[in-house]
Amino acid sequence: MSAVFHETQEALEAQGAQATPAAAAPGLIDIDDVSVHLGEGAQRFAALDQVTLRIQPGEFVCLLGPSGCGKSTLLGALAGHLKPTRGQVLLDGKPISGPAPERGLVFQHHTLFPWLSVQDNIAYGLKMQGVARAERRRQAQAMLTDVGLTGFETRYPNALSGGMQQRVEIARVLINRPRVLLMDEPFGALDALTRLRMQELLLELWSQRRMTVVFVTHDIDEALFLADRILVMSARPGRIMEELIVPASRPRGADWLTSPAFSARKRHCLDQLRSPEGGPPLERLSPLAGPAAN
Ligand SMILES: Nc1ncnc2c1ncn2[C@@H]1O[C@H](COP(=O)(O)OP(=O)(O)OP(=O)(O)O)[C@@H](O)[C@H]1O
Ligand SMILES: [Mg+2]
Repeated sequence: MSAVFHETQEALEAQGAQATPAAAAPGLIDIDDVSVHLGEGAQRFAALDQVTLRIQPGEFVCLLGPSGCGKSTLLGALAGHLKPTRGQVLLDGKPISGPAPERGLVFQHHTLFPWLSVQDNIAYGLKMQGVARAERRRQAQAMLTDVGLTGFETRYPNALSGGMQQRVEIARVLINRPRVLLMDEPFGALDALTRLRMQELLLELWSQRRMTVVFVTHDIDEALFLADRILVMSARPGRIMEELIVPASRPRGADWLTSPAFSARKRHCLDQLRSPEGGPPLERLSPLAGPAAN
């Protein structure tokens, strides 16, 4: 595991991604020997088993794994919604002890307040921080523009499409300027075209802000389109089975999605997910290999 990790670090550095910044740089996640046991008595079981990994500030990581393998559990530990049974989770060197706006969480289904307008939902976090109304409006308007919702300020969540609801949800989280964005299958309920648009929007927002992103998905194509690095998880109890660098430059588009290198990695991920033990690791010619490398 550690050997793979070092390779990952070097590859990120060489790619010019925000690699190996000083320890104090914002958004550095350390998951240190984390196990999570759930349930009571005879029903108690290990949902996560001894997961150790580091995620660099500004890195985009996808967690890919079969249903029930503990992806949401790991995200819950990062969000501070559940305490590991063993080990610890650190953000910028400090243990995570509970939920905080510095770690924004987006789920598959929105958690917007139905009685608040779009702009008031987006500005809610600022209101909780005591920011004055005029400033809240100004920042909410800027966020609305960034997520492509200008003109929808006064609408209510139930008058929006699923894609628009998720745009509001993302805006509501980003307005708090999180160091980390945690996403649990955020586009899983959307149709294919809307999903692609949302993926592109997310990459645009990330490239502007460079927060660390931990994105859970079942969808191999989605992971290969979005991630710097894919962490493939085993079936329960969840462990990190493999780390896979995505060797594509950004911005990514149709060239990457239709390349032989994309197909090879997709096939590899499929094999990994199908086999309970995971397949052999992908032969890595060079972590810097471009889309045409194999
Ligand atoms: N509060 C709980 N009590 C008992 N078991 C739970 C609890 N929450 C989750 N589980 C179980 O823990 C395991 C891991 O759940 P988790 O939701 O993390 O998986 P997942 O990888 O996110 O799955 P999915 O892809 O279906 O969302 C699953 O078997 C689930 O049924
Ligand atoms: Mg889940």
